[in-house]
Amino acid sequence: MVRIYTPEEIDKIARSGAILARALAAVKEKIAIGVTLKQLDDIAREFIRKEGGEPAFLNYQPHGAEHPYMASICASINEVIVHGFPTEYKLKSGDILKIDCGVLLDGMYSDSAFTIIVGKSTVKAQNLVKATHKALEEAIKEIKPGNHIGDIGCAVEKTAKRYGVHVVQGLTGHGVGYGLHEDPYVYNYGNKGEGIVLKAGMVFAVEPMLCTGRGQVRQLRDESWAMEDGGLSAQFEHTIAITEKGARVLTK
Ligand code: MF3
Ligand code: CO
Repeated sequence: MVRIYTPEEIDKIARSGAILARALAAVKEKIAIGVTLKQLDDIAREFIRKEGGEPAFLNYQPHGAEHPYMASICASINEVIVHGFPTEYKLKSGDILKIDCGVLLDGMYSDSAFTIIVGKSTVKAQNLVKATHKALEEAIKEIKPGNHIGDIGCAVEKTAKRYGVHVVQGLTGHGVGYGLHEDPYVYNYGNKGEGIVLKAGMVFAVEPMLCTGRGQVRQLRDESWAMEDGGLSAQFEHTIAITEKGARVLTK
């Protein structure tokens, strides 16, 4: 079932999302060579709690996972695309770092992620990050009542093609609000006019994940997901409400 949120409920998710946006900005400010992922996790957790929210990922058990997740952010590097654990690993020049975080405030979840290249980057890595950022922008343009959910995936896929990169297979966006993961799946590929019709009041976490390699993933021992061929990967994510006037980004 795809939930329809009232304008008041959407405002609530926006308040959760505003804290998340600022938490991610605080994390971003600290990203530098030599900083550990654990330090970034501490910043996010402390910031969110100071603002009266709860880190949504902490103690959350993703579907199919064997254990609850024991950190406030996911910090995924290079070929690792999602659910990388914030360890004592020290950031190195050239790392493509994805930070994903969620906030629970007043019963409402928000979910957002960004990618950043640490220190010196290659043209290939820059192109991938640009493509993924653009894919989210293009996806947002498709979000309005009357469009189909396939229009979102189609926009992501087309953008990937345009930049000569590929869509990560098997990982998707999702509905979000009362739950961190709700219906529907928001695929990063698809055809125009296919899938459910978008209605005002739906709230989605839209999260294009693109890669330089072929797109197949495998799960590592720490339950993170990585590109099977070792290619680079990038992700951007916003929590977005569909309003009569179009997309309202709730995590900025
Ligand atoms: N944003 C992540 C996703 O949509 C949520 C990670 S939950 C965690 O998959 F518990 F694994 F952190
Ligand atoms: Co998500």
